[in-house]
Amino acid sequence: MSKKLTVGSLIESKRGPESRPVAQRLASHGLAPRTSSVPPVATPPRPIKLRQSGRSLVVSALSGATLLQAGLRQAQPIAYKCQKGTCGQCAVQVIAGAEQLSPPTPLEQQTLSASRTSGLRLSCQARFCC
Ligand code: FES
Repeated sequence: MSKKLTVGSLIESKRGPESRPVAQRLASHGLAPRTSSVPPVATPPRPIKLRQSGRSLVVSALSGATLLQAGLRQAQPIAYKCQKGTCGQCAVQVIAGAEQLSPPTPLEQQTLSASRTSGLRLSCQARFCC
């Protein structure tokens, strides 16, 4: 047997309690609707794409490490020397993923001040910040 629809049955205030959304019906009985217990999935960081002396390099994020430390651990042939931010040998051009790195320090800015290349970072000073 099918239920007849009338104009009155479509008016919100004239519908019975079964027409309310499930969440409202549960709330009227003092029950909360079930929520998902699965935590949201974090998006993994994207690898950072670099260029140094014409070579393309890719370094995956390593929390708290410098770009140089992460790159060397991942067998990336990044040239470097002092590891103190003064020689400029570890300079790399960041092609993608710069947002994952710490802002340039005053020492890094000073060492790179002669360069006009945009996106240049000292890999021994730039740290993964995320
Ligand atoms: S290795 Fe010398 S500035 Fe980074």
